[in-house]
Amino acid sequence: TTNSLLILPGDGIGPEVMTEVRKVIGWFDGRGMSFDVSEDLVGGCAYDAHGTPLHDDTMAKAQEVDAVLLGAVGGPKYDSLDFSLKPERGLLRLRKEMDLFANLRPAQCFDALADFSSLKKDVVAGLDIMIVRELTSGIYFGEPRGIVTEGNERVGINTQRYTESEIARVARSAFELARRRGNKVCSMEKANVMESGVLWREVVTKIGAEEYPDVALSHMYADAGAMQLCRWPKQFDVIVTDNLFGDLLSDAAAMLTGSLGMLPSASLGLPMANGRPKALYEPVHGSAPDITGQGKANPIACILSFAMALRYSFDAGDEATRLEKAVEKVLADGLRTADLLGPEGGSPVSTGEMGDAIVAALDAA
Ligand code: NAI
Ligand code: MG
Repeated sequence: TTNSLLILPGDGIGPEVMTEVRKVIGWFDGRGMSFDVSEDLVGGCAYDAHGTPLHDDTMAKAQEVDAVLLGAVGGPKYDSLDFSLKPERGLLRLRKEMDLFANLRPAQCFDALADFSSLKKDVVAGLDIMIVRELTSGIYFGEPRGIVTEGNERVGINTQRYTESEIARVARSAFELARRRGNKVCSMEKANVMESGVLWREVVTKIGAEEYPDVALSHMYADAGAMQLCRWPKQFDVIVTDNLFGDLLSDAAAMLTGSLGMLPSASLGLPMANGRPKALYEPVHGSAPDITGQGKANPIACILSFAMALRYSFDAGDEATRLEKAVEKVLADGLRTADLLGPEGGSPVSTGEMGDAIVAALDAA
């Protein structure tokens, strides 16, 4: 089978890190896998070319491919644009129209970087957990919302709202993932004080019992979960939670592992006709205008995002593991981009040197 991939490098360091991912794709292409890669614009560069951060033709392509891989969007040049024309609207449109309701954020600690975490080495060394955040509903979208006047003062209103089917589909994503990992799901909400949390716990429990009895399910209040995440993160395998709590918990978990330049993500939707889920892969970081064009960007977050595409879109789990091992090897060999060097410094490698080293490590593996 051919694996179709749409690459959207975007703005700032997006194109720089994507150049390195292309080297990796080139390595896998022909070694038992084949890729049909197309490329297009998103964000500020799309606005420059078409007057819109995402052209309809690009949107249509994204709906058809097995996976979309995005670099980053945005930059100071576009800060004064109208809200509807801003680069991030391009990304939001992709997520919304592809209905990407499950946001997967791994927190993985490569042993070579364990010293770099803000936590004690034994707390994070070998850490490998996955946070599944509901991405398309909840308090960021619920109605009613707005700022209204009541009596002689204004009130800011947002509504936390989840339907049973919205909870069920993200729960299934988490259980499916757990089966391919450590077979454990911890669901986090605040059922003690929120109605949506009561329903969340009920639905997740029912789906776990009826459809995934083989997966160990536990529940935790999200505030206690935040504490446990910092105290002993290795107790978790897959965490599933709502949009708001997931936003906070995944950012906190990210810092367990070091640099923004290391963090991949995936956003998945419903299965398409070929059985593969709608999927968008992207590094967690932004367009980093402060280092753009200097060869300083760490390409690993984007390369690990491609590893997630291998695993979750292209049925190539072994290849994904091989790529992750190659990353681990170059880090163990001591290679560091500037973001991975502490205040004591050292001599950093460039974006291109890091990409080349990872490809060389694939050869050696
Ligand atoms: P940022 O993630 O672009 O940068 C934050 C800091 O981390 C900067 O010092 C940057 O140099 C560093 N950094 C980020 N990625 C790195 C990498 N791969 N290697 C080495 N260092 C890296 O976030 P910031 O500065 O808040 O936003 C910059 C622009 O990016 C804004 O226009 C913002 O809207 C956009 N942005 C886009 C996102 C996306 O495309 N998904 C996400 C976050 C921000
Ligand atoms: Mg956030």
